[in-house]
Amino acid sequence: MKTVKFDKPLLKGSLKVPGDKSISHRAIMLGSIAEGRTAIKGFLDGEDCLRTIDIFKRLGVSIERNGTDVVIESPGMKNWTSPTENLYAGNSGTTARLMLGILAGSAITSTLTGDDSLSKRPMKRVTTPLQSMGASVAGEEGGDFLPLTIVGSKLEGIDYQMPVASAQVKSAILFAGLNAVGETVVREDTVSRDHTERMLKQFGAKLKQDGNTVRIQGGQLLEGTCVTVPGDISSAAFFMAAAAMVEGSEVEFIDVGLNPTRTGIIQVLRQMGAGVEILEKHGETGEPYGVVKVTQARLEGTEISGEIIPTLIDELPIIALMATQATGKTIIKDAAELRVKETDRIAAVTDELTKLGAKVEATEDGMIIEGPTSLSGGELKSYGDHRIGMMAAVAALVSDGPIHIEDPSCIAISYPTFFDHLSQLVTAGIEE
Ligand code: S3P
Repeated sequence: MKTVKFDKPLLKGSLKVPGDKSISHRAIMLGSIAEGRTAIKGFLDGEDCLRTIDIFKRLGVSIERNGTDVVIESPGMKNWTSPTENLYAGNSGTTARLMLGILAGSAITSTLTGDDSLSKRPMKRVTTPLQSMGASVAGEEGGDFLPLTIVGSKLEGIDYQMPVASAQVKSAILFAGLNAVGETVVREDTVSRDHTERMLKQFGAKLKQDGNTVRIQGGQLLEGTCVTVPGDISSAAFFMAAAAMVEGSEVEFIDVGLNPTRTGIIQVLRQMGAGVEILEKHGETGEPYGVVKVTQARLEGTEISGEIIPTLIDELPIIALMATQATGKTIIKDAAELRVKETDRIAAVTDELTKLGAKVEATEDGMIIEGPTSLSGGELKSYGDHRIGMMAAVAALVSDGPIHIEDPSCIAISYPTFFDHLSQLVTAGIEE
């Protein structure tokens, strides 16, 4: 249990958040698939990304990590060795789903496992398209859940229309497509994050992108390279929302990722009335990043639905908290994916914010929040979900009493230095 309590807080100064989780996973994966040396700077040393490193070490890839610097020396995926033990993905959906796509077309046999939460998350969305490429993936209950055993097989390209907007599914198919015979085509109705496409190109792969369609030709060899990981906008979002809500606050976010498939939070902050300025923008050729200043303002309720949802899917818990401080109704729709994240985030956010006195109604695919409400302190659960834990901690900045967070350790999954950054930014006490 951790108690977080502030007395008249104010957020001031600048913050460089840890590296992007999605990009860090992909850098380890592509650096291990490629032959030769890959050097990564700004790697996220959160638990999820460390699981990905462990897995590739078990396949015979040399990975040396010194804090946020990582050097990979890989013999190339054709020379990986079959592991003697299970490959444990921990809590990480990205590790599990992307590894399925990679292992399906490899030359090795392996079994992927996960923790209790991950073992309840749907895998069929990945195994169905992979099986139609010729993958051999088997598990109990029709192979929808971990543990799954993958016998690396000869794959054939497919033309796949995505039924859900999911970068994890898209990436798994593209990785499988890299090792398949012929061309693989992935078509999306709504664009999901495109880090895999950008990084495949950085490692020398050729991809064709036309609107919402990506094509990759199988049999391409990748070459090791250098990758710099920008700050994770999904981590910054907790402090962006805090700066927007807490009277008199102003915070600059340094070198934060600004990939347009991830910046829905910036649009929503503006829609709700917060001050958001992009002070610098770089990295146009790979992953865009820059400096963003967020200033507190009187917030208004808004509607969040449709195409923007995949660009802020992980930010919806903190957006819901912000909506409790905004005037009027905030309606979140088309976000049923929240129900199959690390926990059911619609239920978790509704239950926990309601405990503090917020007016939140859960719907099948979102939430309706009526504000502004003053929030009391209270005892909140994280459900072992890092983003619910961080939402609870930020709630302490706008609540009348202390917030006691049950199981805050899960925050290290994506943001190991979260509490240090919270106390650095806020000019008022944080209590243990
Ligand atoms: C991720 C994609 C998203 C996101 C997750 C990371 C990725 O999941 O919620 O935290 O790295 O591809 P879906 O693609 O399943 O929506």
